[in-house]
Amino acid sequence: MSHHSHLRVSALQTEEEAERQTQYESDNSVWRFKGSDTAAKASSVTMRVIVYKLFDLCTPDIKKPLLPLAHGDPSVYPCYRTSIHVENAVSDVLRSGKGNSYGPAAGFLPARQAVADFVNRDLTNKVTPNDVYMTVGCNQGIEVLMQALAAPNANIFLPRPSYPHYEARCVYSGLEVRKYDLLPENEWEIDLQGIEAMADENTVAMVIINPNNPCGNVYSYDHLKKVAEMARKLGIMVITDEVYSQTIFGDNPFVPMGEFGSIAPVITLGGISKGWIVPGWRIGWIALNDPKGIFKSTGVAQSIQQNLDITPDANTLVQNALPQILEKSNKEMFAKKNSILKQNVDLVCDKLMDIPCVGCTKKPESSTYLLVQ
Ligand SMILES: Cc1ncc(COP(=O)(O)O)c(C=O)c1O
Repeated sequence: MSHHSHLRVSALQTEEEAERQTQYESDNSVWRFKGSDTAAKASSVTMRVIVYKLFDLCTPDIKKPLLPLAHGDPSVYPCYRTSIHVENAVSDVLRSGKGNSYGPAAGFLPARQAVADFVNRDLTNKVTPNDVYMTVGCNQGIEVLMQALAAPNANIFLPRPSYPHYEARCVYSGLEVRKYDLLPENEWEIDLQGIEAMADENTVAMVIINPNNPCGNVYSYDHLKKVAEMARKLGIMVITDEVYSQTIFGDNPFVPMGEFGSIAPVITLGGISKGWIVPGWRIGWIALNDPKGIFKSTGVAQSIQQNLDITPDANTLVQNALPQILEKSNKEMFAKKNSILKQNVDLVCDKLMDIPCVGCTKKPESSTYLLVQ
């Protein structure tokens, strides 16, 4: 319990609190203000809200450790500590006193350059620092994009199953969600036919998560190419969430969707939370893979910038450390974490076989979840 007690935020009221609440409510008629409920519908579908509700239902008298099985943050376990060079990079900037200022809305140029250099390691169509925007974790990238795409009647395709933050932010931004299926019998590939059948003139984008959370698969080059071709046919962009690109422990190699940016424009979301096991540092990025400049001519790039102009900057201490962090990051560095994840997946899948009626459709080869049937 000691590791996870910080996750508990009580939503249930004690009798005394409830009584006090009733008394306050009776006094409330004098006040002209009240809390807005604009986020009520959106927040109800997030993992956080669902998980905290479950935590609250656990009886504290049963003195057993609570396993946060839905919390994608291995950093609470000491064996998943980030590399020493990553910690040194941040402590060097901290001690230099150079990481204390506000930054530009799109991020510091050296940080954007460092991200461009890092993602370009795997790309044929290279991105420039101007194609990169720094964000407060990958989540802010999602928020900014959904806001940048929201228009009257616009709809967007999200995978099912998915990472719930997408739906929450679509609901909040007023983007209509249309869910496409991931096919368990087909290595969790995308139901491309289903997507085509659902598209109409108001469809603006499809989101893919690769490596996939929660299914744990990694899409092949051929499948991603088909996704790009279909997006081009429908006239939509592809948003690819690649926050798990450094968290792969199976045999299928990771192919960035940006490779197909010349077929259909691609927006890549990434960050250091998962690969570098530092989700609390809140650093992510948006990268435009768009060799034909479609995001500029359609105003999408400008809208991203404008949305960043009115939201908080990504942590500048870590932005300043990013060139040092990313330059020295390599496959060997990620291998240790990935091999522990693999051992855990093997162990859990093995143990699941002992439980009647529960099974694992496909052993994950990436990310930090195991989808159980
Ligand atoms: C698919 C996916 N995207 C984005 C995020 C959030 O990333 P960050 O912590 O960098 O905001 C998560 C976290 O679980 C995730 O699973």
